[in-house]
Amino acid sequence: MGRIAVFASGAGSNFDAIERAIANGTLEAELVLVVCDRPSAEVIKKAEHAGIDVFQFAPKSYPDKQAFEKDIVQQLEQRHVDLVVLAGYMRLIGSTLLESYEGKIINIHPSLLPAFPGKDAIGQAIDAGVKVSGVTVHYVDEGMDTGPIIAQEAIVIQDTDSYDEVKKRIQSVEHTLYPQVISHVLKGALST
Ligand code: GAR
Repeated sequence: MGRIAVFASGAGSNFDAIERAIANGTLEAELVLVVCDRPSAEVIKKAEHAGIDVFQFAPKSYPDKQAFEKDIVQQLEQRHVDLVVLAGYMRLIGSTLLESYEGKIINIHPSLLPAFPGKDAIGQAIDAGVKVSGVTVHYVDEGMDTGPIIAQEAIVIQDTDSYDEVKKRIQSVEHTLYPQVISHVLKGALST
């Protein structure tokens, strides 16, 4: 069974969706670690409550990105992680992690990339007045929300939609799409 680590910085609704999919058997995987760069993030409590190991760290207490990524790699290697799943981890992945887990890091982003990379993709899409946006899952490279696209799903934005309505629709897509894509990627990754 594939062993995954979820990296998150915030509320952890995607973490919840992944955990649910594992619990109900639609995602055959073992969630062995949550990595979090914000000690106050809600996802930490959720992971602890679920009995999942958490590696939380304060980036500012390290001299540089290489130093904290070395610690992260050690945590991942100790648990024989097959796939790193970024779920709202709001930090660029550096060369230390990329070199150790080449082709084994995926990310979810709330827009149809390459449109609206970076922070607040939902707000960017609303401000731009687009009528269609969506969700992208992609492999991670050194760029900001770049890297080969694995899957995308669109949603329609109505002129009358509030920010919260669009966010709800986007997150509902994310929570179904991400576990499916993780399952697909793990099958490919594990069959090699
Ligand atoms: C998700 O919508 C995810 O797509 C986004 O952060 C949110 C995290 O929500 N990620 C990015 O914007 C990455 N650039 P969650 O903590 O409730 O899963």
